[in-house]
Amino acid sequence: MKTIITGGCGFLGRLLAARLVARGDIVTLFDLSMPPEGLGGLEADVNIVLGDIADPKLVQGCVQGANAVVHLASMVSAGSEADFDAAMRVNIDGGRTVLEAARAEGPMTKVLFTSSLAIFGSAAMPARVDMMTRPVPQNTYGMTKAVMELIINDMSRKGLIDGRIARLPTIIVRPGKPNAAASSFASGVIREPLMGDVCRLPVPRDMALMVGGYRACAEGLIALLDAPQDSFVDDRVVNLPNLTVTVADMMDATKRVAARHNISLGAVIDAPDTGVQAIVGSWPTAMDSTRAEALGCPKSVDLETVIEEFIADYIS
Ligand SMILES: NC(=O)c1ccc[n+]([C@@H]2O[C@H](COP(=O)([O-])OP(=O)(O)OC[C@H]3O[C@@H](n4cnc5c(N)ncnc54)[C@H](O)[C@@H]3O)[C@@H](O)[C@H]2O)c1
Repeated sequence: MKTIITGGCGFLGRLLAARLVARGDIVTLFDLSMPPEGLGGLEADVNIVLGDIADPKLVQGCVQGANAVVHLASMVSAGSEADFDAAMRVNIDGGRTVLEAARAEGPMTKVLFTSSLAIFGSAAMPARVDMMTRPVPQNTYGMTKAVMELIINDMSRKGLIDGRIARLPTIIVRPGKPNAAASSFASGVIREPLMGDVCRLPVPRDMALMVGGYRACAEGLIALLDAPQDSFVDDRVVNLPNLTVTVADMMDATKRVAARHNISLGAVIDAPDTGVQAIVGSWPTAMDSTRAEALGCPKSVDLETVIEEFIADYIS
């Protein structure tokens, strides 16, 4: 399999690339730039193409000969909210550039797209959404994801590409520094204290969130990439398995795991941010993932297991 991962130098791109390389796939990472810290040794096993996702010539050249494209390149939630025009250019124009490049490779070209819980919103939304809940995004990022879902479903229905769409909960624990996602604190409230740093918490501690562990997420994305085309029937969207937790649950789980490893935790300081609260507060807190599990995506593991995985993979 020859697989291109757009946004491949990011958090999920690297996790996927490592797994695909390990099973013998030929992997190309397409991204704006290399992360300053490098790719942790992955550089030797992948091809790397640097450039903008909205550059048709570059994207088409990169996708040429590919069996599959995993399209991850995106502006994230708070960044998209701050700059509508940039979000349209990267997430919609860039997304369409990727889809057209895949289409040029023929109808069997798989395209796996990562959508988000942020497609949901509105006061009338149920706390637990299912496959039939109408997307009414309350932020620009969610809107761009919902638009891409519709385009990919229709291009697949027309036999132009073989699309697959994973709707992700907030994936924890992201290593490194906070990013421009409104949900960045969901990783930060675990990561920063474990690293001995201070976490500035923008939301109330009793706020409920829908999260998922990164290992299960990467394995779920690969299950969707490998699933037979006919298993998607007339809808390419799959809600990934998820877990409903409060911020306080995450802090308590971090304390229990830290105690087992003799780690002294950095402090969590309340620093309310109404912008972040408005975006994250519009998201559902649970998503029905029956379909994902039937397609082989692993169930969510509990918070303590996710934190143990983070320590094993990124701290130890
Ligand atoms: N991580 C999560 O919790 C989560 C949740 C829901 C959806 N998603 C989606 O999954 C995908 C991957 O998420 P992630 O956490 O790995 O994100 P990330 O921010 O770590 O990685 C995205 C990558 O896209 C690249 N990129 C941004 N703009 C680009 C452009 N114009 N041209 C080329 N590359 C560009 C960035 O440089 C970055 O390396 C994204 O589409 C995101 O919206 C992620």
